[in-house]
Amino acid sequence: MNKSEELKRLAAVAAVEEIKSGMTLGLGTGSTANYAIEEIGKRIAAGMLSDIHGIPSSVRTENLARAVGIPLLTFDDCQTLDLTIDGADEIDPLLRLIKGGGGALLREKVLAQASARFIVIADESKISDALGEKWALPVEVVPFAWKAEVRFIETLGAKTKLRVSAGGPPILTDQRNFLLDCDFGRMNNPDEIAARLSSRAGIVEHGLFIGLASQAIIAGTDGIRRIEAKV
Ligand code: A5P
Repeated sequence: MNKSEELKRLAAVAAVEEIKSGMTLGLGTGSTANYAIEEIGKRIAAGMLSDIHGIPSSVRTENLARAVGIPLLTFDDCQTLDLTIDGADEIDPLLRLIKGGGGALLREKVLAQASARFIVIADESKISDALGEKWALPVEVVPFAWKAEVRFIETLGAKTKLRVSAGGPPILTDQRNFLLDCDFGRMNNPDEIAARLSSRAGIVEHGLFIGLASQAIIAGTDGIRRIEAKV
């Protein structure tokens, strides 16, 4: 395992330490969240955790969670979660996040909003002074309106790119929507951008997660750092 994968795994294991038997969990998507899901599965198999249930944030996560033996629920069974553990593409000092690099931002945000606590896990490369300096913002749009939303988002100052499979058709999310990767550069005003994007009917959801993370667990070459959200 290379160094950055090892750091992701260490952050994930540190977050899993926060899980107590009986909890209902939101299960994130992506390579970092996968380490957490694998660790939860190991602890259930070893009898260290019991009566654990999870709601997955994507079909990929659902498949992995089933494979490692995590019992799953849906929001039909249970409407609130004790804890969600998920990765991020960028994290700023106020624990505002860009998420959705893996395309699962809509369900990820639903889980984060339904959770009493949301721990974001990452290696130190995900930390940024200002969101947008490393990653374009993923925005999920309805296929019917995607070109109108491109036009709108470009009036906000971003360059947009429709996410496509290699040389092929647009990638569809689990909800069968399109994804636009929107390069805003360094965002001085992510809260305002989030509000503008949320106001559009053709935009299903965007990858700015503001006021949702309770804690970040960041693994770096100097060890694990925890950043608490300011209340
Ligand atoms: C998935 O849609 C994303 O929000 C991921 O949580 C994010 O892209 C981080 O992924 P990695 O852990 O693979 O970097």
